[in-house]
Amino acid sequence: MYEDRIRRPALRSKITSAAEAAYLIQDGMWVGASGFTRAGDAKAVPLALAERARTEPGPLRITLITGASLGHDVDRTLTEAGVLARRMPFQVDTTLRQAINRGEVMFVDQHLSETVEMLRANQLGRLDVAIIEATAITEDGGLILTTSVGNSASFAILADKVIVEINLAQPLALEGLHDIWIPGKRPHREPLPIVSVQDRVGTITVPIPPEKIAAIVITNMPDSPSTVLPADEETALIAAHLIDFLQHEIAHGRMPSPLPPLQAGIGTIANAVLAGFAESPFEPFPIYSEVLQDSTFDLLDVGKATFASGASITLSAARQQQVFGDLARYRERLVLRPQEVSNHPEVIRRLGLVALNTALEFDIYGNVNSTHVGGTHMMNGIGGSGDFSRNASCAIFATKSMAKGGRISSVVPMVPHCDHNEHDVDVVVTEQGLADLRGLAPRERAKRIIDTCAHPLYRDLLRDYYKEGERRGGQTPHCLEQAFAWHMRYNETGSMLPLHAV
Ligand code: COA
Repeated sequence: MYEDRIRRPALRSKITSAAEAAYLIQDGMWVGASGFTRAGDAKAVPLALAERARTEPGPLRITLITGASLGHDVDRTLTEAGVLARRMPFQVDTTLRQAINRGEVMFVDQHLSETVEMLRANQLGRLDVAIIEATAITEDGGLILTTSVGNSASFAILADKVIVEINLAQPLALEGLHDIWIPGKRPHREPLPIVSVQDRVGTITVPIPPEKIAAIVITNMPDSPSTVLPADEETALIAAHLIDFLQHEIAHGRMPSPLPPLQAGIGTIANAVLAGFAESPFEPFPIYSEVLQDSTFDLLDVGKATFASGASITLSAARQQQVFGDLARYRERLVLRPQEVSNHPEVIRRLGLVALNTALEFDIYGNVNSTHVGGTHMMNGIGGSGDFSRNASCAIFATKSMAKGGRISSVVPMVPHCDHNEHDVDVVVTEQGLADLRGLAPRERAKRIIDTCAHPLYRDLLRDYYKEGERRGGQTPHCLEQAFAWHMRYNETGSMLPLHAV
């Protein structure tokens, strides 16, 4: 049984049910689970754990660490069963988000490149159990991962015990796609030797001693498909502004042609904007990113992208079928890496990435809020956006100029929570236009952002705010008592617009 999936015969005796395997997890434990943006997540054991919490007496609360977000409603189900005491480093689930915002789950929002580095340095708790989805286990006990690497390799290496979910729905053709590189000890660590996007510097399996594998669970469930929405008129305009900008950069010798490797963030906007590059005039360029969404495969298909490196492949249902049914077409142009490698500051700086991430809102000086709605309520988390923007050769943030049917301006006087500060943000863009902020002082930035990015409905209000701030003076002028008045007005009236402007 499962000779091709569990190639070390002695390990086949470890096959058990998800419910049995879940008994390896006890109240108070720290658990690391595979999964990055719905791809390659542990699917059966976490759900069995939730079932146990629902049906058996006694407390069962754990710290759950993953690569990023999970599929199969795992976060929702664990939240509803009260299993999550602490969660890191990223999530996108509505039920979990509400529990976080009620203060019931302690959520630690982290740069995605840092989680395993902190575990390794004993700065977080110790991992008791890792639950890792794999395509197969090799003769020497190495794990062949599935559609994401994320933090899986380091979780398996650092945890006391490993539960492996062998997912028969994940094709064996995934073997060879991964490049597992684990950093050495600090402070004399060797450099990460990636000097071009397609470099392979590690192993194709996760090397762990076979005796660490405490249980093997057989599953047969495809990844949950991605939920991003298709491109629309506004995302097409954002893509057009960006293409113009990048063409201009090449024409003036500030960027090479072909373009430097491109990174694109998660979500509808980044996916749609990247898809817009299929029609761009650029020479084929490489992608060095975190999540490879549908748009990456659109670009590979039309020959606009030469190669794609990421930490996960997260696709819509139709794209999943096509890509995983036809991996041979892509495998020479794809690599999946640990997220501490895909998001590594050293590589991002060395390759000179152009990084495109999404803002909820930004302010007139170019400070960006990507995480906290209204300054207080967690949306998803910072993800890898900070890893990329701090180190990219050009850090771009995109958003539509308004949200919620115009009741929210995404360009505000001051962001009430700052994920990316003015020092890390080079360019901001909305469907209205693009503001290149490089080399501009705050007073110049404010004028540029208001004139080019703000929606006309809010432009004069922003000008009034800035004019009053300018009258009071300062390197970065503000009217502090008015800085969050728009957010407060939205909370009180349901719109950032003052009544007289409606
Ligand atoms: N205030 C309140 N809500 C806002 C808002 C604002 N200024 N701007 C957008 N929203 C809401 C939208 O209305 C939408 O709400 P809905 O789900 O109820 O429809 C939701 O936020 C998502 O916005 P959308 O415009 O569809 O963008 P998106 O799907 O591209 O997501 C982020 C945008 C910022 C939430 C998402 O990109 C994210 O989580 N980023 C942080 C992590 C990250 O960048 N990771 C990538 C690193 S590689």
